[in-house]
Amino acid sequence: MSHQLCIVLDFGGQYTQLIARRVRESGVYCEVLSYKTSVEKIKKLNPAGIILTGGPSSVYDNDSPKINKEILELGIPILGICYGYQLIIHTLGGKVSPAPTKEYGKVLTSYDTNSMLFSGLNENNLSWMSHNDYVVEIPEGFTAIASTELCAYAAVENTSKSLFGTQFHPEVNNTVEGFKILHNFLYKACKFTGDWSMANYASTAINNIREKVGDGKVLLALSGGVDSSVAAALLAKAIGNQLTCIYVDHGFMRKNESDEIKKAFADWDINLISVDAREQFMAKMKGVSDPETKRKIIGEEFIRVFEQEAKKIGKVDFLAQGTIYPDVIESGEGDAVVVKSHHNVGGLPDYVDFKEIIEPLRMLFKDEVRRLGTELGLTDVLVWRQPFPGPGLAIRVIGEVTEEKLDILRDADYIFREEIARAGLDRQVNQYFAVITNMRSVGVENNARTYDYTLGLRGVTTTDFMTADFAKIPYEILEIVSTRITDEVKGINRIVYDITAKPPSTIEWE
Ligand code: XMP
Repeated sequence: MSHQLCIVLDFGGQYTQLIARRVRESGVYCEVLSYKTSVEKIKKLNPAGIILTGGPSSVYDNDSPKINKEILELGIPILGICYGYQLIIHTLGGKVSPAPTKEYGKVLTSYDTNSMLFSGLNENNLSWMSHNDYVVEIPEGFTAIASTELCAYAAVENTSKSLFGTQFHPEVNNTVEGFKILHNFLYKACKFTGDWSMANYASTAINNIREKVGDGKVLLALSGGVDSSVAAALLAKAIGNQLTCIYVDHGFMRKNESDEIKKAFADWDINLISVDAREQFMAKMKGVSDPETKRKIIGEEFIRVFEQEAKKIGKVDFLAQGTIYPDVIESGEGDAVVVKSHHNVGGLPDYVDFKEIIEPLRMLFKDEVRRLGTELGLTDVLVWRQPFPGPGLAIRVIGEVTEEKLDILRDADYIFREEIARAGLDRQVNQYFAVITNMRSVGVENNARTYDYTLGLRGVTTTDFMTADFAKIPYEILEIVSTRITDEVKGINRIVYDITAKPPSTIEWE
């Protein structure tokens, strides 16, 4: 690793990944590690700074996550946030107690701008608080550098030990000058040089891939999604036509999508095998209307097709995957450490003959993957693609999948996407699509009765797709979409907009 490292020690806080992303946005590479990480490992990694995250526990509880005091004595600058802050205080002999009044939300905070952490800030501004406990006594050597009406020690520092703590969350946007605070910690206290950029990452990753692969052969399942596309681009730059990508067209892609994917990679020096398996998949869908059965059949069929094609290539040395960082971070809370093994295209065969897996995006967040894609010269069509489920439109056709319904859905969905883009909402609404229901209702057109399908429109805003709100798309835009679809697409005479959040709904309808 040629860049400097900041470690984010995770105590199970809800903002852990946000902290890590903010640090990376500041131009500093960081990794999230469990709070259980040993002092030896930390020393070996040689970080220039450490951030202790928030967490749901109380430091004075016996079974709450603790920190080895030696970490605080390594001489590495440390910023504790919320629980992480309280832990520093508790570990070094100060006192943390339940607060008489909980602070939650935006709270006016006075900052001591003589402190390194707050240099260049306004003396008073809003910060984001969310705590039940608070610090009542600070250990020797510490001084208060911020306060709120209820919290005398909203932030503290110990300059000789380079220890800092904030009760509020600088990583959250609601802390108005939070970005500056993190920046001050990273650049003034830790003295990072800011050597993390996607251009650097690309060149290092390319070298690493070349070294590892040598003159071996690499196989990648290309779905056209952001992650597998960027992985393909990176590998293509590194090893050119030693890379073979298999793209399986299962027939459930959106309008023009298969052509767009093939076109996007047409000029790249890779072997792209595009398999037209549309009839094969469609045949399997006959008479099937249960969502889970559809998913299962498509997943299995995909593996079969991929495997057949892979066999034709013969032995490959590496199987590449577009796994990204949120899928590999180990949680800091509890003993059951879950590392999800993520597959971009629904799950790949274990039995393709290869000796090793390579995952060149393993350390990147989604926004970094997109930036890397742009850096590598991928088109916006691929880089800004919204998430698309492996089973594709088959789970956006409610009930049995037929060519007729797929055609109607493709045209309607295309219009919806076109109008969202025209309104400039395509990066604000995180995912948006149409669903064709299995319901027909009565309508009227040119004075004649119609009996056609109802179309559902779904738009959500979300950061992690685990929870989501329905997107408040302006009525004027929905009106244009509705008019255009009913005018231009035969077979739809009624359109509804999905106004449910996740939970209780899911984003997809099936
Ligand atoms: P749900 O419907 O579970 O969707 O709220 C959450 C996110 O995951 C996407 N999704 C999938 N992605 N394979 C995928 O790669 C799948 O089978 C799949 N099913 C849902 C969905 O589009 C949303 O972004």
